[in-house]
Amino acid sequence: MDAPTTASADSGSSGGGEDNGWFTPHRQPEPSQDGARETREGNRLAGMRPVGRPAAGLSTTGGGSAVEEQRHARPAHLMLPPGYAPVDRPVPPAPEASPDAILVRRTLAEVGPVADKATSYFYALLFVRHPELRALFPAAMDTQRDRLFKALLTAAEHIDDTEVLVAYLRNLGRGHRKYGTRAEHYPAVGECLLGALSRFAGETWDATVEAAWVRTYTALSQIMIDAAAEDERRAPAWWHAEIVAHELRTSDIAVITVRPDQPYPFLAGQYTTLETPWWPRVWRHYSFASSPRSDGLLSFHVKAVPAGWVSNALVHRARRGDVVRLGPPAGSMTVDHTSDSGLLCLGGGTGIAPIKALVEDVAEHGDRRRVEVFYGARTGHDLYDIDTMLRMQQSHPWLEVRPVVDQQAHLQLPDAVREYGPWYEYDAYLSGPPGMIRSGVDALVDNGIPSERIRHDAVDEVVAAGQ
Ligand SMILES: Cc1cc2nc3c(=O)[nH]c(=O)nc-3n(C[C@H](O)[C@H](O)[C@H](O)COP(=O)(O)OP(=O)(O)OC[C@H]3O[C@@H](n4cnc5c(N)ncnc54)[C@H](O)[C@@H]3O)c2cc1C
Ligand code: HEM
Repeated sequence: MDAPTTASADSGSSGGGEDNGWFTPHRQPEPSQDGARETREGNRLAGMRPVGRPAAGLSTTGGGSAVEEQRHARPAHLMLPPGYAPVDRPVPPAPEASPDAILVRRTLAEVGPVADKATSYFYALLFVRHPELRALFPAAMDTQRDRLFKALLTAAEHIDDTEVLVAYLRNLGRGHRKYGTRAEHYPAVGECLLGALSRFAGETWDATVEAAWVRTYTALSQIMIDAAAEDERRAPAWWHAEIVAHELRTSDIAVITVRPDQPYPFLAGQYTTLETPWWPRVWRHYSFASSPRSDGLLSFHVKAVPAGWVSNALVHRARRGDVVRLGPPAGSMTVDHTSDSGLLCLGGGTGIAPIKALVEDVAEHGDRRRVEVFYGARTGHDLYDIDTMLRMQQSHPWLEVRPVVDQQAHLQLPDAVREYGPWYEYDAYLSGPPGMIRSGVDALVDNGIPSERIRHDAVDEVVAAGQ
């Protein structure tokens, strides 16, 4: 059955069933069909697109391998991840919005000021109507509970930005396998999303708006479902990994090495998500601290942040022999080996970990490209990996490492980079705390590096942390 069936968000329908759900995503995309859709009797919505037919030109098909796809993915800052609004920079004129996007944005404008309430209502609906889904989420959902809801809303808002969204959603769909998310869960989430929206966008919500949201959510979720289905054929949903080394470098930073239970393909500069046995279903991102090794081991540099659940467990509690879970690799902060531009790398704190991986990657490719690393920290003590970086500098004449300590030089990392420019011939890579990434990007753009040559991840965490 191609034509999705729909019902009112507030009709009390629990959705998900074959005939009374919001829509029925398929495991694989359906061929595109033109023309009007047939709607069922009693259905308030008309003109639905078939499931899998992307709204406004969105393509649900992926093609290459996950790693290959990530290599070609646009830099994260161009991918407009959920909630991310670039600061104070001229924005090129947006292409004309589709009718659905206009309606979706109208809802968002109304719901925005009460997003917190809408989020709580969304989860309340989800867990009351679908109690079986509660087990997929962490026991306590205070810190990051708004991420799913925010992502849904922002992805919906950017539904017209085909290129921007597809790579992001495919990655998200793959990443959702580790939560235990299945194709049949999507209608339930969609139904509750619309339930929350219809309640909080009371003024503007009507059948036309609802139909636009159904089409939009269907297109978004179909991309995620298809990416997950493709990924299922080639990779596990998660990896178990045993801690084989745990080295405390400072009182709050540990270098942790793990052995995955199956081969774990990734690219230097990427990150993974990690769950510890002490906080089930609480996943956090950590960057790989080296390029892929022949022994298959992976290492991470973890800093325990005040009151941080996962980081403190990893630094202060984890020991050799403990087993963690890893999600799939992600991130587009990878080296383009088809280019011979220099690399300008800014690593703040544990942000030096993926930078070290990038340097190893360049060394292994024998490219001999110039690599300039600025390694920033608050105090000299915080430069926990400076010895490794200086050793690498000694072995590689193309590498320059410059430590920048705030308290000594009264200089922030971006200011230091400004002093040593210009950097016209370089691609830039930034990794570290969200604030550093933001000010770093601004400094680099001011110094003439075009934004499409600046790579970094973590912007969605910037949003999550409200920084
Ligand atoms: C792409 C990416 C890669 C990352 N790579 C690394 C890495 O290689 N090494 C690493 O140590 N971390 C890394 N992080 C950060 C990591 O994912 C966690 O956010 C961090 O470990 C805190 O998690 P937690 O569970 O301990 O803290 P939470 O329980 O999530 O947070 C507890 C409190 O601490 C605050 N907080 C969170 N982070 C910080 C911080 N950095 N400084 C001060 N307060 C904070 C929160 O706002 C909250 O109030 C990365 C993040 C991203 C997005
Ligand atoms: C279009 C649909 C969806 C979007 C855009 C979306 C987006 C997100 C995002 C951005 C996150 C934050 C963490 C991450 O990046 O992985 C997240 C977390 C999560 N999502 Fe989804 N999601 C969707 C559908 C679903 C569905 C159908 C389920 C199944 C019930 C689900 C279950 C979860 C769970 C369990 C988490 C972890 C929550 C946490 O860590 O607190 N999501 N989602």
